[in-house]
Amino acid sequence: MSVSYGRRATSLRRAGTTRVLSGVDLTVRTGEILGIVGETGSGKTTLARATVGLVRPEAGSIGFEGTDLVRLTRRELREFRRTGSVQFMFQDPLRSQDPELTVRQTVAEPLAAVGALTRRERAERADEALALVGLDAEALGSRIPGQLSGGQRQRVSLARAIVTRPRLLLSDEPVSALDASNRNLVLSLLDRLRRELGLAVVVISHDLSSLAGIADRVAVLYRGRLVEQGPISEVLEHPRHPYTALLTASAPSVRREHRLLPAQLSPARSREPWPDDEGCVFAPRCRFAGPECRDEPRPAAVAEAGRSHSVACHHADRWRDLLG
Ligand SMILES: Nc1ncnc2c1ncn2[C@@H]1O[C@H](COP(=O)(O)OP(=O)(O)OP(=O)(O)O)[C@@H](O)[C@H]1O
Ligand code: SF4
Ligand SMILES: [Mg+2]
Repeated sequence: MSVSYGRRATSLRRAGTTRVLSGVDLTVRTGEILGIVGETGSGKTTLARATVGLVRPEAGSIGFEGTDLVRLTRRELREFRRTGSVQFMFQDPLRSQDPELTVRQTVAEPLAAVGALTRRERAERADEALALVGLDAEALGSRIPGQLSGGQRQRVSLARAIVTRPRLLLSDEPVSALDASNRNLVLSLLDRLRRELGLAVVVISHDLSSLAGIADRVAVLYRGRLVEQGPISEVLEHPRHPYTALLTASAPSVRREHRLLPAQLSPARSREPWPDDEGCVFAPRCRFAGPECRDEPRPAAVAEAGRSHSVACHHADRWRDLLG
């Protein structure tokens, strides 16, 4: 899919649109956790927002159980969202929770749109969801978000996201604001829920190492492009795109040998989306760059038939030989 945002006119440029995601093609299956990693501004939240229908892609498709969500009319999309089959946990739980609603009301809120449930059934479903995330509904159900710890608040967000019994859950930076013990708790909850509820889960993170324990596969975004995707152990141990190798280098627990890499290939300073008509933005600093890298549109990191690991690089094999 490709996504653009409208932009206002400034003294330097006219009003128009900026493409912030380009040709991103991903699949997540039932019971699977797909990690999405990338630095700030790479388009992770935009990708999640587009998948749940909060922003409409300008090109591409979003297939969900045989329906292309991009082709739905506005009304059909609204109906689809009301079913709660796809849920989104926002990046900042404090801002996304109404400060005046109790925990039980917060968790039950999405059920109001689903309809056909009595008030009592909604309360029961909320308590069930709270129990699934390990929170005591009796003790915490009537508190407001301000009376919870950060870890508890994040678990309330998770309970709220699963209360509609979704089949796909997108979770935006679920652990970045948490300390180590809460981080492990939330990640292991996601891991358990995808197995127990048969959920397909997308976990967004700017930190590759936090995905290492739970994701099955990982997709690496760089300035709105997908540069590499594959099974997480393979991507961590044998990255083939230099940007992924840079990410593994800055996560010391992941792979020590790649720490030397930043000296050879410093990351680009710009965080602007990668322009559509530009060749590989790594070319000025890449030791394997040839004319094809500068001139030809870069190859897409789209999983080819029979290949689970794909890389958007003309010379991925040479990088693989170098990186080991
Ligand atoms: N509503 C919007 N209107 C215009 N541009 C936007 C909007 N939301 C995001 N952008 C731009 O789109 C790009 C991608 O933003 P996005 O929030 O998806 O990145 P991200 O990877 O989630 O970053 P972070 O790690 O900081 O959360 C950025 O250049 C950002 O400035
Ligand atoms: S080899 Fe070419 S395509 Fe690959 S990272 Fe280097 S410049 Fe980009
Ligand atoms: Mg974000």
